[in-house]
Amino acid sequence: MMKSGLEDVIAAETKLSDVDGAAGRLIIRGVSLDDLVATSRFEDVAALLLDGLFDEHIDAASIRKQLGMARAALFAHVETADAALLALPPVDAVRALLARVADGEDFATAIRLMAAPAVFLPAVLRLQKGEAPIRPDASLSQSADILRMLTGRVPTAEQTAGLDAYLVTISDHGLNASTFASRVIASTHAGLTSSVLAAISALKGPLHGGAPGPVLDMLDGVGKPENARAWLSQALDHGERLMGFGHRIYRVRDPRADALKTALKPIFASGQADAGRIALAEAIEAAALALLKERKPDRPLDVNVEYYTALLLDALGFPRNSFTGVFAIGRTVGWIAHAREQTLDGRLIRPQSRYVGPLPNAA
Ligand code: COA
Repeated sequence: MMKSGLEDVIAAETKLSDVDGAAGRLIIRGVSLDDLVATSRFEDVAALLLDGLFDEHIDAASIRKQLGMARAALFAHVETADAALLALPPVDAVRALLARVADGEDFATAIRLMAAPAVFLPAVLRLQKGEAPIRPDASLSQSADILRMLTGRVPTAEQTAGLDAYLVTISDHGLNASTFASRVIASTHAGLTSSVLAAISALKGPLHGGAPGPVLDMLDGVGKPENARAWLSQALDHGERLMGFGHRIYRVRDPRADALKTALKPIFASGQADAGRIALAEAIEAAALALLKERKPDRPLDVNVEYYTALLLDALGFPRNSFTGVFAIGRTVGWIAHAREQTLDGRLIRPQSRYVGPLPNAA
């Protein structure tokens, strides 16, 4: 019997990350998520994930330097953004610009692909508002430069740390839909750009990486903590899903949710964002968990990564229509690592389908 959605099917062996849905645990290359977020910046997790997958020696300092140079060089592509491209949703505009990065399987291509969405997303967002894009500063870390290119201001230490925590938290997550897409493309040896383009296309769907924008819409819709239960009940009565809840693998709380909740606290505590937002989010979370338990007693549904992503990215100044694009900035390194692992170790991915359609007449 075929498993709908390939649930529980093992389709790859990987040394990159492990998602334990029963225990609510995520391990990235042998390090638990909590330890990783506490000790790493984006460049550290990139070095961790890519180590041994290319001929080059890889460390965080050299990745930081190379990413900086790649960001500066990629800014030239921003000038090619025309009105048709800028009319697209931000993640689609980023995807269109990404397609200009030449395909290849080498480390230089990997660096360009990691730098590209970091440059393209802030530039697209500014151009869409009628503002001039800001040139990258190659001397900054990837997170600090993204925030500077977004807002035009040098970010605070709390803001940079918040974005680093986000990018580290979402860098890799087992064989999710976009990572699987990346591996399928890599198995044909089409090149890393092709893998990343396929992956970003899978990511943008609301059942995968497209949920955090709608989470914020839900927060706005609820408005006050005391409205939470009535508002959520009505949404469920209309057959809607509560965005930011439920997961294919986790049957308990998604560990990434708490990593992000921890990361956003210093930003709110230092007065750099409206603290009332956290109280509202916590009230909605409590009401949603109670309602989901009542309505779906047989299906454990808990908070997923998207819930606190919404609060964190909002506090950092990203508009809600850009959240999927920020997700892509962080996940690109995971897509590349999986693509390389697949190319180095794997065969062409070519499963079978079972034909259940009509047969030709036997006449
Ligand atoms: N709100 C309300 N009900 C939900 C729900 C949610 N967020 N998530 C799952 N359910 C319900 C489904 O309606 C279904 O109920 P039914 O069997 O009575 O029809 C049951 O739980 C199982 O759902 P299913 O679609 O089989 O789960 P899945 O493993 O395929 O889906 C998600 C996982 C993430 C797609 C799903 O939980 C979802 O849509 N969540 C909201 C979107 C979101 O937050 N996405 C980000 C994921 S990181």
